[in-house]
Amino acid sequence: MAVILALETSCDETACAIIRDREVLASVVSSQIEVHKRYGGVVPEVASRQHVLTINPVIEETLATASIRWEAIDGIGVTCGPGLVGSLLTGVMAAKTLAWIHQKPLIAVHHLEGHLYSAFLTQPALEPPFLCLLVSGGHTMLIHIRDHGHYEILGQTRDDAAGEAYDKTARLLGLPYPGGPEIDRLAKEGNPRAFAFPKGKVDHPYDTSFSGLKTAVRRTVEQLRSQRPSEEFPLSDLCASFQKAVVEVLVEKSMRALEHLNLSTLVVCGGVAANRGLRARLEQESKQRGAAVVFPAFAYCTDNAAMIGCVAAQKYKQGLVSNWDIGVFSRMELEQTSSLYCCNPEIRKL
Ligand SMILES: Nc1ncnc2c1ncn2[C@@H]1O[C@H](COP(=O)(O)OP(=O)(O)OP(=O)(O)O)[C@@H](O)[C@H]1O
Ligand SMILES: [Mg+2]
Repeated sequence: MAVILALETSCDETACAIIRDREVLASVVSSQIEVHKRYGGVVPEVASRQHVLTINPVIEETLATASIRWEAIDGIGVTCGPGLVGSLLTGVMAAKTLAWIHQKPLIAVHHLEGHLYSAFLTQPALEPPFLCLLVSGGHTMLIHIRDHGHYEILGQTRDDAAGEAYDKTARLLGLPYPGGPEIDRLAKEGNPRAFAFPKGKVDHPYDTSFSGLKTAVRRTVEQLRSQRPSEEFPLSDLCASFQKAVVEVLVEKSMRALEHLNLSTLVVCGGVAANRGLRARLEQESKQRGAAVVFPAFAYCTDNAAMIGCVAAQKYKQGLVSNWDIGVFSRMELEQTSSLYCCNPEIRKL
């Protein structure tokens, strides 16, 4: 059993959670969406300042909600990358300070490994091997989770990430940031066959590309705007057709990987995993193949600290902790997570 206090500040959410293995005792997320909305996207310097203002109240609220004593906490988990350097620094410095004051081990966590582990919060009995479709604001990846800490990236995006495609397309359509939830909501009311957008052909079984789709939507929007008065603008049909193109390519690649690797479980994580259209289609297709599909609860799809705590709890139980001089990383490969840890057999508590 491992009880972890975890921090996540890699982008525009200041988050803290307390986790007991895969059980969430408290999870607090302070989103900066309202602050960044007026700029149409995240402004890194503004994000760092916002984290500094918010982190202490968020930690206090988490401790009060879990109503736990410091003696009961085994370690401090924190996202160290990839992400915005200024934002990451706030979380890592706060985590080091807490770990030093309370004499707890520090466990640095790769942000994407956190997204993978968000599935365990919803389904604690889940164990590797499984296939993971990670679809977030910055990444689109198909990953073979062979075991804890052993990941094989099968494919990834050649250009825009799925969430990025949603956000850029929403902007083009005059919808507010973040675009994913807005397009998802409008798509439900529209006709997915109204416009035939390209699925983005890539000469690779698992890689994806969404930049062509974005360009096709832009061209269609420009054409429509020049032809029709704004009251006739088919916004929900455009959203539904765009969403269909994104969802179909993700479903196709995921099903191909499930079949080729002969796996029976698909985990979908990251912000785009909240998409209702994607959820419905993946459930339908997986069922037809006798495979199970696991989605994290909506609250754990976008950035949160519970998923970071879940990774840290697993590392702690494996006797893995980080050195005090651990830094932050704007970029970091998922296959390199072992470089974040040294082995401390004294804390092994399996
Ligand atoms: N219902 C939805 N449908 C589609 N996209 C969505 C939905 N809800 C959120 N998103 C998208 O999810 C993204 C945010 O997800 P997340 O917080 O996982 O990304 P991130 O942390 O910014 O990126 P990364 O984890 O790759 O660094 C945004 O691009 C947002 O538009
Ligand atoms: Mg994220």
